[in-house]
Amino acid sequence: MHTNGRRLLYSGASVAIDCMSDALISAALAVRANAFAPFSHFQVGAALEDAEGGIHTGCNVENATYGLTVCAERVAVFKAISEGTRKFRRIAVAADTDVLTPPCGACRQILWEFCGDIEIVLANPRGKTETYRLKELFPRPFDVSYL
Ligand code: THU
Repeated sequence: MHTNGRRLLYSGASVAIDCMSDALISAALAVRANAFAPFSHFQVGAALEDAEGGIHTGCNVENATYGLTVCAERVAVFKAISEGTRKFRRIAVAADTDVLTPPCGACRQILWEFCGDIEIVLANPRGKTETYRLKELFPRPFDVSYL
């Protein structure tokens, strides 16, 4: 999946849910289908909205050594950064859990570094969503200001 200006182009599975009205949540749910998760079988999708409304997606990519696994959120951030995008508004994170899945500690650090106090929308395939600011989930971050 990739964006062409503000238009989302899907190459994976489509999703039929009632939060289709938010393209960012829809993108996070759809990209879950691309998760490479043969070890945990826990599929996560992330969709990062930039300042121009473009959407950058990511899914978790696992590795046989386990420790080299990269979460969906970091894949989305690194894809966007590698394409020259630097300003972000929101990130949606989708997993199939009833208690919505939040970003892990490592991802919170990376999100703080590249996105600041971004809005974080958690979602599942049954239409449940919750919205946070990163500062609520990551209240006293270490960053470049300490160096
Ligand atoms: N995972 C993510 O991709 N994002 C999260 O927010 C939580 C965890 C992935 C990492 C691993 O592939 C699997 O979920 C189980 O931890």
